[in-house]
Amino acid sequence: MPSDILLSIRGLKTHFSTPVGIVSAVDGVSFDLTRGETLGLVGESGSGKTVTALSVMQLYAKPQGRIVAGKILFEGKDITAMGEKDMYNIRGNSISMIFQEPMTSLNPVYTIGRQIVEAIRAHRAIDKKEAWAIALEALKQVGIPDPERRLRSYPHELSGGMRQRAMIAMAISCKPTLLIADEPTTALDVTIQAQILQLLRELKETMGMSMLMITHDLGVIAEVADKVAVMYGGRIAEYAETASLFASPMHPYTRGLMDSIPDIEKESAQLYSIPGTVPSLIGETKGCRFANRCPRALPRCTEEAPELVEAAPGHLVACWNRLGAGDEGPQDKRSSEAEPQSRRMTKGEGAQP
Ligand SMILES: Nc1ncnc2c1ncn2[C@@H]1O[C@H](COP(=O)(O)OP(=O)(O)OP(=O)(O)O)[C@@H](O)[C@H]1O
Ligand SMILES: [Mg+2]
Repeated sequence: MPSDILLSIRGLKTHFSTPVGIVSAVDGVSFDLTRGETLGLVGESGSGKTVTALSVMQLYAKPQGRIVAGKILFEGKDITAMGEKDMYNIRGNSISMIFQEPMTSLNPVYTIGRQIVEAIRAHRAIDKKEAWAIALEALKQVGIPDPERRLRSYPHELSGGMRQRAMIAMAISCKPTLLIADEPTTALDVTIQAQILQLLRELKETMGMSMLMITHDLGVIAEVADKVAVMYGGRIAEYAETASLFASPMHPYTRGLMDSIPDIEKESAQLYSIPGTVPSLIGETKGCRFANRCPRALPRCTEEAPELVEAAPGHLVACWNRLGAGDEGPQDKRSSEAEPQSRRMTKGEGAQP
């Protein structure tokens, strides 16, 4: 029975052994990605988004990293049980990934063309000429002007936005079923960011791909995602259709993220920011990992971790004291002591005017 679920992650735990203890970077993640849809994976820095993606690609740091529990079903087959040979066939072929900073994934000493040709020929038994033609087509598809010349350029000869387009060209050259985009626009300025998001949306439509869009920016989610998984401390806090999540967030963390988005309609210079910082993922945690920052925490929250449950049709939440319609969120409790903060909550964040 062909399922409309392309990727199904169940109870995934990816842990790292480090000198200071076990880091439970991904600690029981479950979500589904439907064919042809874009799923946004959103959360603060260090919440485990990249490790989740790298687990799907089987590219997390080894041997310190290990999948200790769970399943990753891609087209019904469990990736965690696959050998390197099968994985090699899937990577870049059925599943492609683009990274935040293209310079880290493009090799500076080879031309763009050579790199794309090699990527194509790693998966297909075709000669260089045919691969070059596909590479040229891919560059055209991602809107790189003068693609013939660009194929002969080295990565440093391209602007940041063009390099990201070249990365996307490489990622789509084998026509993947699933494209994982890990913060693909974070390193780019706003105008270029908007263009790349537009490009990804178009490619998804024309190629019929599914996409996993990783970001810490809810604005990006609102623009591209059909569904959203909100991640916190290595776990999924909330999962819903994008419209439903924005209309009625149920997890206090999601609500906090939303309240941290600047509202241009309000004159106030005060911006809400979730107090505290992301927890250390070292060792075992009892209870909900958000409890110490949560305005709605109950005694139970520090004792027992909430399961992800379907609170409304298609809307899942892991919280003992979830928000209901009309519930006031943390921003309503915002008072004059709230400090202006930046919209994005990243590692080592500080108050920014
Ligand atoms: N190789 C590793 N060894 C030890 N810990 C690791 C390793 N890779 C990741 N981690 C830890 O796993 C946690 C999750 O990291 P991850 O990179 O997935 O976060 P993220 O949500 O992608 O954050 P960002 O928004 O900053 O990219 C972090 O605490 C990180 O320090
Ligand atoms: Mg990351």
